[in-house]
Amino acid sequence: MERRSCDPVLKWAGGKRQLLPKILERLPARIPTYFEPFVGGGAVFFALAHEKRFEKAVLADQNPDLIDVYLALKSDVEAVIDKLRFHRKKHSEEYYYQVRAMRRPASLVGRASRMIYLNKTGFNGLYRVNQSGEFNVPFGRYEKPRILDEERLRAAALALEHVDVQLGDFETVCKQAKKGDAVYLDPPYLPVSATAHFAQYHAVRFALEEHERLARVFSELGKRGVHALLSNSDTPDTRRLFKSHHVENVKARRSINSNTSRRGPIGEILVSS
Ligand SMILES: C[S@@+](CC[C@H](N)C(=O)[O-])C[C@H]1O[C@@H](n2cnc3c(N)ncnc32)[C@H](O)[C@@H]1O
Repeated sequence: MERRSCDPVLKWAGGKRQLLPKILERLPARIPTYFEPFVGGGAVFFALAHEKRFEKAVLADQNPDLIDVYLALKSDVEAVIDKLRFHRKKHSEEYYYQVRAMRRPASLVGRASRMIYLNKTGFNGLYRVNQSGEFNVPFGRYEKPRILDEERLRAAALALEHVDVQLGDFETVCKQAKKGDAVYLDPPYLPVSATAHFAQYHAVRFALEEHERLARVFSELGKRGVHALLSNSDTPDTRRLFKSHHVENVKARRSINSNTSRRGPIGEILVSS
């Protein structure tokens, strides 16, 4: 397989490109079942799939629009490609706002290709919905957005072929992991400061209580003999929550931030059970 097969199909806040080598070297060489309960763009999953490191995989997220993309690629990648060809032909600022305003299509393929189209052409690849669940990211001013990358979509579909894709909360997903399995957890980060906005880029706010729940789930995984690895921002709260585990500071640069002045490197931690 060629190198491109490890590329994510969506731009996603918190994409793990930069930390990828460090994450990969901290996960076991052979994994019976790999779990990624906050899958987002799935950079780690696609890299592990490329290296054939797991026998089975379970991918999950709480975002239904995102999960639709993976389910549609699994079930009918050629139909997704066809619909994206159509979006590419029609693409303009006016068309973007039409697609954004339309109700979610009834078909899985229709919803997934709409999501991919909006992700590739919306501002900074952000995902944001209003209180009624309507996607409300403005048009992104790209010269030539890559609306359709057939090769990448087909490679992703292949990687997803025997993967269990689930919509749901991380805690339910983590309960399925057994001794010897591996779980990589990449939650919406705890803000580094009161002015940082990372958690707001997600439809569901992930506040301190959620990180506390996550820390409990993380400890349970370790007790069951599951290899658990988690990334987060390096803050006094995250240090406190994970103090009984192995915590390493790794620097990383965040790529999605609407305020360019906040795009600098921030401290991140990798926690191992
Ligand atoms: C930081 S992103 C993951 C980025 C991903 N690792 C990548 O490479 O693109 C966090 C993800 O967690 C999801 N999420 C938020 N709350 C959740 C919850 N309670 N359970 C499962 N997923 C959740 C969001 O929808 C988002 O996709």
